[in-house]
Amino acid sequence: MNTIPTAPGTNPAISPEVPAGHISLATLREMKARRQPIAMLTCYDFPTAKVLARTGVHVLLVGDSAATTILGESSTVRVTMDFLVTITDAVRRGAPNVFLMADLPFASYPDVTTGVANAARFIREAGADCVKLEADARHREVVEAMAASGIAVCAHLGLLPQRAMQQGGYFAQGRTTTDAQRIIDDAVLLAKAGAGMLLLEAIPDEVTAEIVKSVACPVVGCGAGPSADGHVVVLHDMLGFSARPPRFVDKLADVPEVIADAANRYVQAVTRREYPAARHQYRMKVSGDGNK
Ligand code: KIV
Repeated sequence: MNTIPTAPGTNPAISPEVPAGHISLATLREMKARRQPIAMLTCYDFPTAKVLARTGVHVLLVGDSAATTILGESSTVRVTMDFLVTITDAVRRGAPNVFLMADLPFASYPDVTTGVANAARFIREAGADCVKLEADARHREVVEAMAASGIAVCAHLGLLPQRAMQQGGYFAQGRTTTDAQRIIDDAVLLAKAGAGMLLLEAIPDEVTAEIVKSVACPVVGCGAGPSADGHVVVLHDMLGFSARPPRFVDKLADVPEVIADAANRYVQAVTRREYPAARHQYRMKVSGDGNK
């Protein structure tokens, strides 16, 4: 297992870098201006959000990766708006002060009106601070319309998992001069259209560096090199749930082993009739005891 070292004497569970109060887009812009790296993770449920909120993570993304990480799908395309709205709301309850980004799922912004309506659901029904959409230049209008409606938008460029069917798989992008220039141009165009944040997935650091210096908004990388203003990984890859995590994710814990160990001890206790023990049982009430 890989480990990221912590400074001696610091409690790794409580970051000294946690900004006070609710983290907003303004907070993230200030962090970019101060060159303070933004730490972002995916999250899909209330108890995990509660734990992550204690760590100083700045942004939680309820990604459509929920399809693969928690629903066992082979791609992200079958996850629905309703499901993502429900789990975004749960994450918000667990992490009230963290900047919360919700992912517009596959084909949920086929036109401007539908896209704005779906984006608004995440804000109104789930308390998200921002919505993310996989985008290129063709999404300029929908990004403009969302921004004009007061919705903070993050444009996701580079590797777009919702396009895996069209692209024939999941491949790093922007590795030729032409493709790199296309991504840079799209990033600049979408930032001008009103995207308040950009997320770059699986592109070379040179391309990221060019985008970071060309736009004013925070740029988060997912396998996009050290030049990004912040970084995101899929939580389940980091926690050891994925058989083949991407090369840019360090496995920082083996949570499946922790769960298996606890469940195994429980199964053994039941099998050996050691559970339930006397302390686990309810007793008949002695009359006059009331509801004690
Ligand atoms: O859905 C997701 O988890 C994502 C990350 C890969 C950035 O979009």
